[in-house]
Amino acid sequence: MRTDLPVGIHDLTFATTSLVLTHDELARHTGTNPAKYRHGIGQTSMSIPAADEDIVTMAANAAAPIIERHGTDRIRTVLFATETGIDQSKAAGIHVHQLLGLHRNVRVVELKQACYGATAALQLACALVHADPRQHVLVLASDIARYDLDSPGEATQGAAAAAILITTHPAIATINTPSGLYTRDVMDFWRPNYRTTPIVNGKKSVDTYLEALDLTWHDYQQQGGIPLEKLRAICYHQPFTRMAHKAHHHLLKTTGTTPTTQAIKATTTYNETIGNSYTASLYLALTALLDSTAPLDGETIGLFSYGSGSVAEFLTATLQPGYQPHLRTQAHQQAIADRTPLTYDTYRTLHTAQLPTDGTEHRTPHHTHGTYRLAGTNAHQRLYEAGPARTSST
Ligand code: CAA
Repeated sequence: MRTDLPVGIHDLTFATTSLVLTHDELARHTGTNPAKYRHGIGQTSMSIPAADEDIVTMAANAAAPIIERHGTDRIRTVLFATETGIDQSKAAGIHVHQLLGLHRNVRVVELKQACYGATAALQLACALVHADPRQHVLVLASDIARYDLDSPGEATQGAAAAAILITTHPAIATINTPSGLYTRDVMDFWRPNYRTTPIVNGKKSVDTYLEALDLTWHDYQQQGGIPLEKLRAICYHQPFTRMAHKAHHHLLKTTGTTPTTQAIKATTTYNETIGNSYTASLYLALTALLDSTAPLDGETIGLFSYGSGSVAEFLTATLQPGYQPHLRTQAHQQAIADRTPLTYDTYRTLHTAQLPTDGTEHRTPHHTHGTYRLAGTNAHQRLYEAGPARTSST
C-alpha cells in the first residue's frame, strides 16, 4: 500500500429536492415568531421531497455530473451513506449503480451511523484508494430529514444528497491524517425500524454534539493535529445552521482561542435554505465554503462530523492549488433556485403520504425537476426511471 500518495476529494457536488417550504410559511401556520426560525435556529427554508423523489433519486442526480465529467472506467467502489434507508437488506446504491450505468465489476455497499455515515465512507474510500491508487471511489451521502408534524424538530427538516469522488492527486482537497475520534452510547436521537420519524431529545442531542466536539478535538490534538489557529475555516455538521455557530464559539471558548479569520458564516449558506440533510450536511457546508469564498489554495480547513447515537470525528482537508475551476457553484445555486415553493397545506399532505405496504401497483405523479425519479412501486419493489430533467412542477 502506498501511503505517501495524496488522496482526497477530486470532485464534489450535491442535489436536492424539487420542492421547498419556507420558514415564513411554516411560521404563519404554527404561530411561531419567524425570528426564532431565522435567528434562533438559523434556517430560512427546507427542501421537501416530491412524491417521486427519495434518497436514490437524489443520489443519482448528484452523482450524474461526476460520471459525466470523469467517466465510469475507474470506479471500483460505491459507498452509500444514509440513515433514510429504503430497504433492510439491499444497498440503495445498487439502484444508483443501475441508473448511472456503472460497470458490473464494482462493489456497492451502504453505511449507517446517523449523520456520521458519510465521513466513515470518506475514510474507507481514502483507504481503498491508498490500497489501489488506480481506483476511484464514489461516495454518496443521501438523506431526508423528516420529523413529526408539530414537533420541535419540524423546523429542522430538509433533504439533499452529496456525491464525492475520491482519487489520488485530487483536484479539490487532500484528506489528511490524523483524525480525532469519539464514540459514546447515548440515546439523543434514534429511529426504531418501525418508525418513519426519529425520536429526539433535542437538548440532549445538542449537549452530546458539543461533548463530542470537545473530545474529538482533544483526541485530534493528542494524535498530533495542527493547532486551531492554523485552520483557515471549520465546517461543522449542521442539523440547523445556528448549531455551527454554537459549536464554533464552544470550541474557541474551551480551547481559550481568540476568534480569528475562520469563516463559519460562509459554510452555512446552503444548509440554511436546504435544511438538515443528515449525512450530506457537512459536505454541503464544505461545498458552500468553497463556492463562496476567495481562493483558499493551500489552506487547511477543519471538518467536524457528528452522528447521533453517537459517533464523531474531527478531520482536516487541504485545498489544492487551482481547485476553483473544478467547483460546480452555478449548478448548486441553480438547484436551490429551481425548487418550487409549497403551501403549508400541500406540505402537510406530502408529509403524511406513504407508499403502499401491501405490494399493490402504485404509480407516482411526475413532479421531480431531476433526471431520475421514483416511478412507482410494484410487488414490494421500488421502480426507478431516468427521463429528461424538468424545470418546473408541483
Ligand atoms: N428570536 C430569536 N431567537 C429565538 C426566538 C426569537 N423570537 N425565540 C426562540 N429563540 C431561540 C432560543 O433562545 C434558542 O436559542 P439558544 O439555542 O441559543 O438558546 C433557539 O431559538 C431554539 O429555541 P428553543 O430552545 O425553544 O428550542 P426548540 O424547542 O425549538 O428546539 C431543537 C430546538 C432542539 C434544535 C429542535 O429543533 C430539535 O429537536 N431538532 C432536532 C434535533 C437536532 O437537530 N439536534 C441537534 C444535535 S443532534 C445532530 O446534530 C444530529 C442530527 O442531525 C439530528
